[in-house]
Amino acid sequence: MRHLMSPLDFTTQELDRLFDLADDIEKNPGRYTHACEGKKLATCFYEPSTRTRLSFEAAMLNLGGSVIGFSDASSSSASKGESVSDTIRVISCFADICAMRHPKEGAPMVAADRSSIPVINAGDGGHQHPTQTLTDLLTIRSLKGRLSNFTIGLCGDLKFGRTVHSLINALVRYEGIHFIFISPEELKVPDYITDMLKEKNIPYEEVIRLESIMPRLDFLYMTRVQRERFFNEEDYVRLKDFYILDKTKMALAKEDMLVLHPLPRVNEISVEVDDDPRAAYFRQVQYGVYVRMALILTLLDIHVD
Ligand code: NCD
Repeated sequence: MRHLMSPLDFTTQELDRLFDLADDIEKNPGRYTHACEGKKLATCFYEPSTRTRLSFEAAMLNLGGSVIGFSDASSSSASKGESVSDTIRVISCFADICAMRHPKEGAPMVAADRSSIPVINAGDGGHQHPTQTLTDLLTIRSLKGRLSNFTIGLCGDLKFGRTVHSLINALVRYEGIHFIFISPEELKVPDYITDMLKEKNIPYEEVIRLESIMPRLDFLYMTRVQRERFFNEEDYVRLKDFYILDKTKMALAKEDMLVLHPLPRVNEISVEVDDDPRAAYFRQVQYGVYVRMALILTLLDIHVD
């Protein structure tokens, strides 16, 4: 039985197969409408979410399966003090696969350890968000035709943004990726990530201003400042509008640069950018459903012919 805790749980060859499956799902959705009949997905969300939870649920429903779960820790037995290990043992009796989001780093791993069904980490604290990374990689592959040889700027809250941490971890396995980290001093990417990049000899730069590097980017991955992970509101208020991507900044970028964002957006991308053909963040959401469908099929070992 397989779980998904980190994007590195799959080799790049396995990821290629997963993305090929997602491509086929996109092109031939009708072939998959009964693939998971009789199967149940449990979504156990101890932290707020719109996209990830509904994307998982839509994915399972598109496959003909059904969905149970909770979207708020206060409406689950966690509020009575039940441990994640006990909860997953119980959920294992009800469902065939579980997607779990938790504010504590490592909680889905604890669950996976005790589970008799596949567990998918749907985001653990400021740590990892592997299915967002699968979404990001599929979007890049689908829109550019490759996962190698590009310069990607990651901008915003690089300290607390788990989507950023997961994406960097996943991209280092591809050739010719150059990272440019754009953040205020206080929200720089953690040392354990830059240490890993140094060790692997992967080029990266850290800058504060977005304008100066815009013309060099093939992708700009924008992120919101993660309010819920700040220790005080004052710092959040000071940093929340540090970057606002608008038409003036977009004018500096290449004609085929693409803007990605895991969403939710707060202020960091002005709505005037939404109509720019380079804004790919809503298309990214659609790829998230295809890739979660492919992931559910893969972890349940269901093959459609
Ligand atoms: C992200 C998350 O939860 O980490 N959202 C998502 O799942 N698409 C990003 C965020 O909350 O900023």
